[in-house]
Amino acid sequence: MIRIAAAGDIHASEAIRDRVDSAFERVEGEADVVLLAGDLTTTGEPDQAMVLADACRRLSIPVFAVLGNHDYNAGRPDDVAAALADAGVHVLERSSATCEIADLRLGVVGAKGFVGGFPGCVLPDFGEPLLREVYAETGRDAEAIAQGLREIVHCDLRIVLLHYAPVEATVMGEPAGIHVLLGSHRLATPIAEYGADLVVHGHAHAGSFEGSIGQIPVYNVAVHVIGRDFWIFDLEGVRGRSEVEVEGPA
Ligand SMILES: [Fe+2]
Ligand SMILES: [Fe+2]
Repeated sequence: MIRIAAAGDIHASEAIRDRVDSAFERVEGEADVVLLAGDLTTTGEPDQAMVLADACRRLSIPVFAVLGNHDYNAGRPDDVAAALADAGVHVLERSSATCEIADLRLGVVGAKGFVGGFPGCVLPDFGEPLLREVYAETGRDAEAIAQGLREIVHCDLRIVLLHYAPVEATVMGEPAGIHVLLGSHRLATPIAEYGADLVVHGHAHAGSFEGSIGQIPVYNVAVHVIGRDFWIFDLEGVRGRSEVEVEGPA
């Protein structure tokens, strides 16, 4: 059994340093691994990332993270990622990483993801170059997810960590008019094709907790949705099969 603590949209800054510190101190004893689903900072400033980095540096358990749109806002996503990487965080940017926990090999594919919407209202690959470039950018994320899942195919447990939503179910609660900006169903295609045991994302602060891609569970772990610092998932790994048990609180 692997205990996974997941949270998105922490939006760290100096103003919430104490809360971040105490949340990460507690999670150390409650989980084997931490997943951070983007919007790590308030406005993408590296000194905001340092608040989270300082909390992660003290942890002995592995931390995997992806960036969110807020982490790009100041035009310094590389500096945000570097601050976290320096603290030992595995920052996944269209990439994968693995670790060994309790004799099980855990693989994590991470990508920010991007916009595009869900069946019924999707951005088409048509018209002005700028709009077609947005479509292409989401396609690059989808291809990276496919590539990452191929890389971790032999892992006992496979997780996809995103910021943007791959299904509409977990953005429900947000105004319908902005669903197109909250994720894309095209991110789900490689997950359906290659399989995964758990998918987590954030971004939709007013969204819903639970969704799925076929039989694969998808959770929106934005702290605004889970209403606590971390949600704990228990993953029971059996080669070729896995079960996710949802637990809380943390
Ligand atoms: Fe956010
Ligand atoms: Fe976001």
